[in-house]
Amino acid sequence: MSERIVQVDVQPNPYPVVIGPGVLAQVGPRLAERVKGRRALAITDSNVGPLYGQTVLDSLRSAGFEATLLTLPAGEGTKSLESLARVYDACAEAKIDRTSPLVSIGGGVIGDLTGFAAATWVRGVPFAQCSTTVEADVDASVGGKTAVNHASGKNMIGAFYQPQFVLIDINTLETLSARDYIAGLAESVKHAIIRDADFFAFHESNLDAIRSRDPALLPALLERNVQIKADVVARDERETTGLRALLNFGHTIGHAVESLMARMDLPWRHGEAVAVGMAAAAEMSVAAGRLDRADAERIIALLERIDLPVCAPLAEARADIHKLMQLDKKVAAGKLRFVLADRIGQATLYDDIQPAWIDAGLDRVLC
Ligand SMILES: NC(=O)c1ccc[n+]([C@@H]2O[C@H](COP(=O)([O-])OP(=O)(O)OC[C@H]3O[C@@H](n4cnc5c(N)ncnc54)[C@H](O)[C@@H]3O)[C@@H](O)[C@H]2O)c1
Ligand SMILES: [Zn+2]
Repeated sequence: MSERIVQVDVQPNPYPVVIGPGVLAQVGPRLAERVKGRRALAITDSNVGPLYGQTVLDSLRSAGFEATLLTLPAGEGTKSLESLARVYDACAEAKIDRTSPLVSIGGGVIGDLTGFAAATWVRGVPFAQCSTTVEADVDASVGGKTAVNHASGKNMIGAFYQPQFVLIDINTLETLSARDYIAGLAESVKHAIIRDADFFAFHESNLDAIRSRDPALLPALLERNVQIKADVVARDERETTGLRALLNFGHTIGHAVESLMARMDLPWRHGEAVAVGMAAAAEMSVAAGRLDRADAERIIALLERIDLPVCAPLAEARADIHKLMQLDKKVAAGKLRFVLADRIGQATLYDDIQPAWIDAGLDRVLC
């Protein structure tokens, strides 16, 4: 079987995530089936464009689209209002109307930016997402959260907006840097911890194949991630019941670590900071009496074996971490909320967090 399809069951428009080698070339025909317009604007970054831009343009053109490509600088800085303005200018130039699709080709940065442009240009145009990083394959491309950053914080300006479909071409992972590849795996471990103990064990027993990007294993790994994310999103699309909040396991301390490393001019990948955040959350879960010590050690050992960091050089920055945690989007009425693991495969959002648990978590991960 050459491709796997996971349906994301959001209403009123469920859509497929297609996973497999070479699926990038399906973008044109799949869009032609779903949209009326025959003009399309593809958006990518300066690393991904030269590698995969032409494949997407060829596919769009052979399906009858008049297609153009906008290439923006690579990096988180592109998730900005300034880049958004460039996308809108390109939409105007390409005469994108409500029937004409935008197509993202890239990781979470291009996906989030293009999705938000699609949600807002002429109050909404169709959107297809071609994912090219592990971070986007297992997490960012599924679920309809789109955004750009603001000076006051990450993802502050955004919308929930679902694509027509997502294409995850596993061949694109061959060119991804080792650092980005490994960092994205943190979200895969997160999905296993919060929802699926067997999937956690799958990581442990297939570690070499995962780390070496074995094409025989990648489809199954990515498919299970998309299933877990799609299931959570279908049950709680707008984060109203608390279920979707579980996806933030490791992210409260993780986001603080990410901001502080960036401030020190040693920017870490999001997944690296989340790995440290998950190690802290595992330790906190033990302190809270929720998780067995042995399971916390299993979590931390798996992260280490993947080559993800489990501590951050921020021992001097404890006070800053506390300050940043107060800015977390999960803070409700001034009260910190934390996702803790009850066991491997199950997590819960708690709002009765004791300072001693946070101390235990930080003691474990600050070095
Ligand atoms: N919307 C969501 O639900 C969600 C979830 C998780 C993360 N995110 C967002 O995703 C972003 C991080 O995503 P990311 O890690 O994919 O970052 P990214 O898009 O910046 O990609 C990482 C780097 O890899 C390069 N690259 C991408 N694909 C490549 C390929 N196939 N070959 C070679 N190089 C390639 C990019 O140019 C970039 O330099 C953050 O902004 C984060 O907020 C969003
Ligand atoms: Zn994340």
